[in-house]
Amino acid sequence: MDDGRVMASVQLKQLNKTYPGGVQAVREVDLKIPDGEFVVLVGPSGCGKSTTLRMIAGLEDITSGEIEIGDRLVNNVAPGQRDIAMVFQNYALYPHMSVYQNMAFGLKMRRTPKHEIQERVARAAQILSIEDLMKRRPRELSGGQRQRVALGRAIVRDPQVFLFDEPLSNLDAKLRVQMRAEISSLHQRLKTTMIYVTHDQVEAMTLGDRIVLMNGGVIQQVDSPLDIYNRPVNRFVGTFIGSPAMNLISGDVRSGKFYVGGASSTNGSGPKGQGVLELDSDIPDGPVKVGVRPEDLVTEPTKLALPPVPLEVVEHMGHETMVHFDLAGERHIARLPADAKVSAGDQLALSIRPDGFHVFAADDSGHRLN
Ligand SMILES: Nc1ncnc2c1ncn2[C@@H]1O[C@H](COP(=O)(O)OP(=O)(O)OP(=O)(O)O)[C@@H](O)[C@H]1O
Ligand SMILES: [Mg+2]
Repeated sequence: MDDGRVMASVQLKQLNKTYPGGVQAVREVDLKIPDGEFVVLVGPSGCGKSTTLRMIAGLEDITSGEIEIGDRLVNNVAPGQRDIAMVFQNYALYPHMSVYQNMAFGLKMRRTPKHEIQERVARAAQILSIEDLMKRRPRELSGGQRQRVALGRAIVRDPQVFLFDEPLSNLDAKLRVQMRAEISSLHQRLKTTMIYVTHDQVEAMTLGDRIVLMNGGVIQQVDSPLDIYNRPVNRFVGTFIGSPAMNLISGDVRSGKFYVGGASSTNGSGPKGQGVLELDSDIPDGPVKVGVRPEDLVTEPTKLALPPVPLEVVEHMGHETMVHFDLAGERHIARLPADAKVSAGDQLALSIRPDGFHVFAADDSGHRLN
C-alpha cells in the first residue's frame, strides 16, 4: 500500500477451546472478518468472548481449529509476531514512566530507531489529543486520559489488527460514552481491522459494523446492528439486544392464529378475555413465544390488536412513557410517547406493529419461526 500500511482480514475456522478443567469455552466458531472492519463480540458473562480474543492474540492455546491473520495461518505464531495490538480493561500503565515513555516502551523494546519512535508517538498523541500530557505520570491523569494513553500505546505499534477487551468498563458512564465516540472516530481515521469485546449491548450496537452475538461458547448471530435488532434469529438474541428487553408473550399457534396465553382450555376460541391474532405467515401449530419490543406496542389499532389490559405501573420519563401491564399472567412493558395520557389502573388497548412481531419456538432452541 502507498503509505506502507498493511491491514488484514482475520479468519476463524472451526475454533474450539476446552480449558484444562474441562470447561468448553468456545465451540465451533467460524467467522470471517474482512480488512478494515469493526467487529464487536458481545454476549453475557462467561460466553467465551475473552477466550476467543485471547486465542486471536495468541495468549491462549487453541484446542482445535485455525486462525488466519491476513493470509497467514498463525496457530503456531508467537503473540509478539502476530502484528496485533491489544487494549484491555485494566490498561496497566507503568506508574513510574511518563506518558511518553509508556507509549514509546513497546517500540523501544523492539529496537525501533529513536526518530521513528518520536514520530509515531507524536502522531498517536495528536490523534488522541493528549499532546499536553506527555510528561505526566499515570497517577496525574484522569481515568479517561489513562485510557487514551493505553490506546496510544496500541496505536504506535501500527498493528494489522486491534483487539479490545472491554476497554471502557472501568470508566464512569459519561466518560464511557465519550470514549466510545473516540474509538469510533479512531476507526474511521485508521481504518484498521478492529475486534472489540463487550457485554454492553449499547456499545455493540453503536460501535460495530457487524455484531457477533455469542452464548455458551457458540455464535448465535452475525449481522449488522440493525439486522440483529430487527430480525433476531432466535429468542436469546431478541431478548439480549434492546432495553427494556423484548417482551415475550406465551401462547399457541393453531391453524394460522396465535392464541395469547394458549389455546388448550377451549374449543378454539381462546380463553375468555385473551387475544386471538391472525398470522400472515405459515407457522406450524404448537406452543410459541411471540417477541415484541416495547416500542412496537402502540395505542393506534393494527390488525394485531391485544385485548384491553389494566396498567399496573406508569412511568413518565420525560421523553417517553413506560407502561407495565399483565397479559395472561405475564408482565410486559410498552414504550409510549412522552405525552401519552395514561395512569396506573387505566384499561388500555394496545396493538402490535406488524413488522415488530417476532415468533419464536417455545422450546430451548427458541429459533425464529416467521
Ligand atoms: N483460565 C481458565 N481456566 C478455566 N476456565 C476458564 C478460564 N478462563 C475462562 N474460563 C471459563 O471459560 C468460559 C468463558 O470465559 P471467558 O472469559 O471467555 O468469558 P467472557 O465472555 O469473556 O465473559 P466476561 O464477560 O465475564 O468477561 C467461562 O465459563 C469461564 O469460567
Ligand atoms: Mg471477558
